[in-house]
Amino acid sequence: MPGLLVLTAGPGAFLSPPMKPSDLLRADHRRIETHLDSLLRALKRLNAVQVAGIHQSFQEIQRIALGHFQMEEDVFYPALRSLAPDLLAKMDQEHGHVRETEQCLDQLLSSFPETPSERNLVELFRLGIEFHDAVQCHIVDEEDNLLKYADSKIPEDQQQRLLAEMQKIRSHNAT
Ligand SMILES: [Fe+2]
Ligand SMILES: [Fe+2]
Repeated sequence: MPGLLVLTAGPGAFLSPPMKPSDLLRADHRRIETHLDSLLRALKRLNAVQVAGIHQSFQEIQRIALGHFQMEEDVFYPALRSLAPDLLAKMDQEHGHVRETEQCLDQLLSSFPETPSERNLVELFRLGIEFHDAVQCHIVDEEDNLLKYADSKIPEDQQQRLLAEMQKIRSHNAT
């Protein structure tokens, strides 16, 4: 009888494992990547018509990355810094590079002419690709190295504390 089988398995057998702070960060990465893909598609067929879409994708990435960096830099990274100082120094460096490329693209887009010249478009392509690559490389590096490391090294009770602090930042930013 199938119903009996479900009962004998016990309720715990159907519960998914508790959410970890790294799950929250991975979920943000997937959202950021959706906009990175749109950004890249528009850059690959760049002309004056694509500029508004590029600006929109860029602003979406900026918006998500702002709270995301705050959760990482204020809560997640400090919890791991003494355990893996070299890895954390690399993450800091990558955040610095993302911010530099973000600033350059922001500056260019904020004063981008309505009728761009060929030179304007070439510059937009160059800075857009640079920003895209900086963000995408950091996401891959962070997931392959830092998040896996954190999942295996941070004890469960600390994982839950970090998650709660990060969710607090998330809900504060949402208001
Ligand atoms: Fe991240
Ligand atoms: Fe990061």
